[in-house]
Formats: sequence, C-alpha cells, structure tokens
Amino acid sequence: MTTPKICMVGSSMVDLISRIPRFPGPGPGETVHGTAFHLGYGGKGSNQAVMAARLGAQVSVVVKLGRDVFGEGTAKNYREQGIDDTYVMFDDERFSGVAPITVDEETGQNAIIVIMGANFGLTPAEVRNARPAIWAADVVMCQLEIPIESSLEAFRVAKERHDPITTIMNPAPAAALPRELLQITDILVPNEVETAMLSGMSVSTVDECIAAAKALQRQGPRSVILTLGERGALVLEGDEPPHHVTAPRVQAVDTTGAGDAFVGSLAYFLAAGKPMVEAAQRAVAIASRSVLKIGTQTSFPYRDEVAELLT
Ligand code: RIB
Repeated sequence: MTTPKICMVGSSMVDLISRIPRFPGPGPGETVHGTAFHLGYGGKGSNQAVMAARLGAQVSVVVKLGRDVFGEGTAKNYREQGIDDTYVMFDDERFSGVAPITVDEETGQNAIIVIMGANFGLTPAEVRNARPAIWAADVVMCQLEIPIESSLEAFRVAKERHDPITTIMNPAPAAALPRELLQITDILVPNEVETAMLSGMSVSTVDECIAAAKALQRQGPRSVILTLGERGALVLEGDEPPHHVTAPRVQAVDTTGAGDAFVGSLAYFLAAGKPMVEAAQRAVAIASRSVLKIGTQTSFPYRDEVAELLT
C-alpha cells in the first residue's frame, strides 16, 4: 500500500481545558469551581491533521499562527507529529488562536469557545500559494475556523488538478456555506448541531438524520456523513442507500476532539483506498477510543494502539 497523503488547510488553536462538576448558569453571573486544568494543542484542523498522521498518513498543513509562545509551541508540535510544516505561516498582528473549553466531568460533554486570532489571517492568496502541498495530496480537508473564502480557495485548487482530489468539509463551527463550496465538496461531515443548523431539520431519530443528510446532499456535496456522537455516524454516499454505523458503548471521560478524530481517521482510510462505509466504521471505532482519555490531541490513539483497525 502506498502511504496515504493528506493536506489540511485550516486551523490551529491552543486549548485551555477546565474540568467542571457542571456547566454554570443558566444565565450569566455564576462562578463554579473547576476541578482540573489542562493546556494542550487543538483546533479542529490541527486535530484532524494529527489524527491522520498518527495513523501513518503523510500529512501537510496550510495554517497561520501568531508570533507568540502558543504559535511557537504549535509549530513545534507539528514537527514532533511528523507533519510537513512547509506552509506553517505566521501572522505579525494577531495572537494565536485559542479555545477555552469546559468539560463536564460527569458526562465528558464539552462547551467550546474559539477565538480565531491568527487563523483568521490565512488568506486565499496564501492558500493558493500552497498549491504544491494541496496537489500532492489524495485528500484535502477543511473546517470553518479560517476565513470561508480561504477554505473555498483550497477546494478550488484541489479541483484544478487533473486527477481529482477528494475534498472533505467539516463545517465546524456551523456557518452558512457558499453554494460553490458545497458543490466542490465531495464529502460534507457535520455533527448533530451543525446538521440541524445547516439543514434547519431535527436529527433526533435515525430517520430524521437520513432526511437531513439528504437535504444537505441536495445542496451539492456528493456524499454526506453525519457524526452522531454515541449514536455513531450516518453515511449517505452518492446514490447508495443510507448506512447507519453504530458506535461501541463506552464510558466517555472527555468528548473534546472526538469529531476531529473521526474526520482525520476518515481521511486516512479514504486516502488508503477503503470504501466509504468501511472507512466510516473504522473512524467511528477510533473516535470512540479518543473519548476514553482527557484532552484533545492527547486522547488520540497512535497507530500501534489501533493496529487491528488498520489491516
Ligand atoms: O473540535 C475540538 C476543537 O474545537 C478543539 O481542539 C478547539 O480548539 C476547537 O477548535
């Protein structure tokens, strides 16, 4: 098997994670005692890139960091993960992206604020300049933590190559997507919240998920995969019948980044030539492992820990 090649055009954050006995509120004004704090590397794009690299993909990133201690650490983290840093750029004006995160220690569920900072300085021209990295990939993945025009440019560049490059859009955090972007997205991968926001439909039951996935597919993407947390994933591939991939039952301690573990793994398995449903089944299994440990990238398994899923 040739090594899967993946290019991630997107975000990097430093995650400031507090474990709390319960979320404060409802409403403003309440202070609650947190029980633990962790600082780690995150950002949806970075997480997805790291996950794919840990499984054995050759990964490059097109990202923008602040010229500060978080930016330096993030650049070092990319190198340590074996990720090609040719297109790691720095913004002279903005601070690195950060994400204050609270995790309910009872359920492992989280609430996240993202402050895009330098990520927002990644321009379409800089993305186009990274064409060698994009064209070298089997799969290009984007999220919505950089300017949407820059994600659009990444997919435009990907589609200009003679042999088509698979484009995966993880529309997180949810925002209205331009028509052109949806049409050059091969696989749209929203979670439940993003699906409800983008489709305006409920996703409480599997039947509702199927209806919402079909509604999103009608907007342009060839395939739609909904990530459904403990309910697994719903795969709608082209004209094939929808397929519900169930997740193993686990006791989650921290769900932060599980969706990114899924997307990074999905990209890896697709680039490795696996059929879509099989790729999603393996990605669900890996994402389920990631919720068993505290932290974001710190919870993602390495290749040798999931060897049985890589054959
Ligand atoms: O999906 C989890 C990620 O969302 C965190 O790492 C945080 O940085 C935000 O981007």
